[in-house]
Amino acid sequence: MKSKTVFVCQECGSQSPKWLGRCADCGAWNSFVEERAPGAEGQGGAAGAAHRYATAGTSGVARLYADIELESHARLSTSIDEFDRVLGGGVVPGSLVLLGGEPGIGKSTLLLQAAANMARTVGPVLYSSGEESEHQIKSRGERLAVGDAPLYLLAETCLERILEEIARIKPALVIVDSVQTVFSLKFQSAPGSISQVREAATQLLFTAKGQNVPIFLVGHVTKDGSLAGPKALEHVVDTVLYFEGERHHSHRVVRAVKNRFGAISELGVFEMTSSGLRPVPNPSKMFLAERATNAPGSAVFCAVEGSRPMLIEVQALVSSSNYGTARRMVSGIDQQRLSLLLAVLDKRAGFNLAGDDVFVNVAGGMSVDEPASDLAVLGAIASSVRNRVIPATTAMFGEVGLAGEVRGIPQANLRVREAAQMGFSRLVMPEANIDPADRKAATTCELIGVRTVGEALEALIT
Ligand code: TYD
Ligand code: MG
Repeated sequence: MKSKTVFVCQECGSQSPKWLGRCADCGAWNSFVEERAPGAEGQGGAAGAAHRYATAGTSGVARLYADIELESHARLSTSIDEFDRVLGGGVVPGSLVLLGGEPGIGKSTLLLQAAANMARTVGPVLYSSGEESEHQIKSRGERLAVGDAPLYLLAETCLERILEEIARIKPALVIVDSVQTVFSLKFQSAPGSISQVREAATQLLFTAKGQNVPIFLVGHVTKDGSLAGPKALEHVVDTVLYFEGERHHSHRVVRAVKNRFGAISELGVFEMTSSGLRPVPNPSKMFLAERATNAPGSAVFCAVEGSRPMLIEVQALVSSSNYGTARRMVSGIDQQRLSLLLAVLDKRAGFNLAGDDVFVNVAGGMSVDEPASDLAVLGAIASSVRNRVIPATTAMFGEVGLAGEVRGIPQANLRVREAAQMGFSRLVMPEANIDPADRKAATTCELIGVRTVGEALEALIT
């Protein structure tokens, strides 16, 4: 009997009975791969597991909202403060968490550290790796001082074997590194293909919910920044975390982009050291550590990431262009935003930079995408053009509009508090954000409200 096959888009999971050059759903080119139709695997597969999940869980009868008791999720701590923070206060039992990031950024390192800590404090942990042998993991573990915690290592890529080991060991935490190396015997397609990845995630989800064990999945990210292939995975899991950072900088940021058990855009900051990832409780201090305090072109921006304020240095260098066309180079901010700000500087503040090269850089390899950074970018550029230093004890934030107005932005008081705490004595900010009560209360940090770009520049570089 000829087995039934379908063509599946590896980008979005869309299916077609015949091969297509371009996916009709997501528009990806040449993304279709032939796979066995899910129905062809007998009664196994996701449908069978879904049935098991349903029977393992509740009765399947609708219940009245008022009758359902509130479940407070007891959190398990990873003993890594910054990691607990992104998770929304620790690991929720029975949750499925996806940790994505580029190769070599530190995913395995962070999870091995968390695994060792939880093995010590909560109970046995199973670390299943399809990428490294037990010996490789052990030699990494030696640097991270794993010691004799009850940590089980499994070098395995077969999903059914991993599930058997989970059933046998009954761990308090499971780590699957990476979900793209796992394959199920029920599918003939290669590991990493969308049906394999989806099957692995779905089966592990049922195990997580059924046995109330938290499971972390490591996911590789493609060059364009999406989780390789399976966008389908993001809605299967409870929490999606992204590991970010620059290869040439030691700091790493873990960001929550989806969390069923906590706030999103929460973030944890780490530093990669010779003995693994070290939490950075005070990122402002790290980002400002190497600031040149009396050089023109440097401005300190009070950013907020999630609910977390941090001070970041924005640098600009403006020099007359020796070539025909002036260059605009950015690192860490949006190029379009820079063009807009340069136009505002030209029209509203009389800076003509048409013949100049403009370089803008966010120090430490960070990136900022809040409009609140406008004032700092503008300030840094103006400071470089006029060759005047912005005082080292001045910080700023605010959005700049096309009419040259400085607009209020969210979470202003968080930013004010952080700047005051970090010892800044002047804060240039939108007038609209100044609370009269704040102005009185602010004894150590003077709040300077500005309404226009002109006023802001006057406060910054005179
Ligand atoms: P790794 O966790 O293997 O990355 P991923 O799993 O995301 O692919 O981390 C790899 C990098 O981290 C590697 O280049 C070496 C570096 N590293 C340290 O600097 N210190 C350490 O203690 C460890 C274990 C790794
Ligand atoms: Mg790894």
